Amino acid sequence: KKKVGILTAGGDCPGLNAAIRGFGKAAIRQHGMELIGFQDGVRGLAENRYVPLDGRALSGILTVGGTILGTSRDKVNRMVVDGETRDMIPTIKENYEKLGLDALVTLGGGGTARNANKLSKAGLNVLHLPKTIDNDIIGTDDSFGFSTALEIATDAIDRLHSTAHSHHRIILAEIMGHRAGWLALGSGIAGGADIILLPEVPYHLDAIVDAVEQRRKEGLNFSVIAVAEGARNETDALAMSGAQALVDESRNPDTKAAAKKAKADLERSMRDNTMKLATQLEDATGLESRVTILGYVQRGGTPCAQDRLLATRLGTKGAQLVDDGEFGIMVTAEGTGTGTIPLKEVGGKVKYVPLDHPWVEAARSVGTSLGDD
Ligand code: F6P
Repeated sequence: KKKVGILTAGGDCPGLNAAIRGFGKAAIRQHGMELIGFQDGVRGLAENRYVPLDGRALSGILTVGGTILGTSRDKVNRMVVDGETRDMIPTIKENYEKLGLDALVTLGGGGTARNANKLSKAGLNVLHLPKTIDNDIIGTDDSFGFSTALEIATDAIDRLHSTAHSHHRIILAEIMGHRAGWLALGSGIAGGADIILLPEVPYHLDAIVDAVEQRRKEGLNFSVIAVAEGARNETDALAMSGAQALVDESRNPDTKAAAKKAKADLERSMRDNTMKLATQLEDATGLESRVTILGYVQRGGTPCAQDRLLATRLGTKGAQLVDDGEFGIMVTAEGTGTGTIPLKEVGGKVKYVPLDHPWVEAARSVGTSLGDD
């Protein structure tokens, strides 16, 4: 009987439990495996904290938000333990071997794929399933969590229209997505935002003001703006790519650490970017401007049908691949089918919105400003 460990890591998202259930039910029922769940992501793996997952434990979790296993954003090779940063890969390997595991299944995004790849290189049999509300994982059309977050953000933009038009205000909805604009673009189009700002398209204040003024000329004295959390004006975008280039170019560990710190400080100084933009727009247009940060609401609660389907599809495929002995890979969604991609091609990378993507073209075609013209 094959014994498999499963864990969820990175930010929680809708569909994680559906994927644990999909993988687990197929693993136990179809392939006769034994399953255990590590708690709190890779930290539970390092601390050997786990629970048995049998049919009973997997029952009733399909619709439940978050993750029944808990999660964390730890790194396997740089984990803070008792106040010290340690490489926990050897400990994890020892735990894996002592438990007699045949495979480890990780559910997470690009950061978790990097952890998974490190463990795979250390000799563990690892299979990864793509989850994130950001839809920014390389090599897969889709990740579970995204569709639900898209529905939530779209609903929020719909509702923000009420106050925007009733009070003749500019309302900026700040939408998650980390460094990519998928969620802001998708919900901005679906929710009919008048202006959409993305990390991939640095904006000019003047272009946004022009778009608001143009609407005013048409008798529309309000605007709803979907702002991706990573959207920046041209100057700030340039400063960020400069800071990133310094990180990429540094070879010496001390210089790299300093460059990373400088980049993190710069990022922190831009955290209230949406708020600053609201003030600038109020000053420039004379229209009252308000910000609504959608925040964790976007990744909370029950997964939508699409995410339940995707999670079950990818989870059950994952169980098949573990049974076939296929490791060092991530399961991908390819149209209505599935595929795989080597973990080393996924870890730590970002799938940005291409500027010629049909969603970008559709947004521009209906007259939505992206703040760049
Ligand atoms: O990756 C999911 C996500 O919600 C991103 O959209 C966001 O940038 C990030 O996680 C927030 O992270 P945290 O949970 O650490 O606040």
